[in-house]
Amino acid sequence: MNQVYEKVVKCYESIKDRIPFKPKVALVLGSGLGNYADTMDVKAEIDYSEIEQFPVSTVPGHAGKFIFGYVKDVPVVCMKGRVHYYEGYPISDVVLPTRLMKMMGAEILFLTNASGGINPSYGAGSFMLIKDHISCFAPNPLIGENIEEFGCRFPDMSTVYDRDLQSTIRKKAEECGIPLTEGIYAQLTGPSFESPAEIQMLRILGADAVGMSTVVEAIAANHMGMRICGISCVANLAAGMTDQPLTHEEVQEASNKAAPLFRQLVTESIASF
Ligand code: HPA
Repeated sequence: MNQVYEKVVKCYESIKDRIPFKPKVALVLGSGLGNYADTMDVKAEIDYSEIEQFPVSTVPGHAGKFIFGYVKDVPVVCMKGRVHYYEGYPISDVVLPTRLMKMMGAEILFLTNASGGINPSYGAGSFMLIKDHISCFAPNPLIGENIEEFGCRFPDMSTVYDRDLQSTIRKKAEECGIPLTEGIYAQLTGPSFESPAEIQMLRILGADAVGMSTVVEAIAANHMGMRICGISCVANLAAGMTDQPLTHEEVQEASNKAAPLFRQLVTESIASF
């Protein structure tokens, strides 16, 4: 058996008896949404550290566990804390949790993150519906022997972000009076923030926001045929757009401030998926 596949299966086998239901939605919580589970009807929790061979995140604010619960009537598995490539894990480990949640039965992957805004019309604290992405600055998680159990060798990437899910999110944002922009998200590896010249390059390439996650997870989920959607919380203007240096604390502070509206948008959207 393929070693990467075997590892996901082992993780699944080690927790399958503790999973309370077949989740419909797999929700990845980015910075600021960490406390989202407080609003859920929680049925079970599994610490990442309890899962054999599972990559455990080392970033402050990303302490990790799977939380199983209902958002309104929808069974959801939530990732509190994700694994980032910059932590030093192989890219196959970065997408292992995504693959594991699909193995649990999740059909929809809802990705959230904090990002730096490149589009000059975005303010700090605004929300961007991810319409498409730029992946070429991060390693592709499908490199290596193809895992047939997950999907095909050359997956189509024309519509990674599901159009119907996008419509639902747009509609819910409008109903709730939450301003929502739409754009292209680029993933770089981090952990250093970008230089102003890199931001200029990304702008020329058509990126509206930049971050250090999400795209590789979307590629792995798309490979497995999941329906995918994503919302980015623009925590700061990207490097060079203001005179301020960027800090992780500033990103966390801005995301925490935006969290109540973010939570509402996520909840209303999931309830209508
Ligand atoms: N760059 C990369 N990642 C980020 C940023 C940024 O400016 N803000 C939040 N995550």
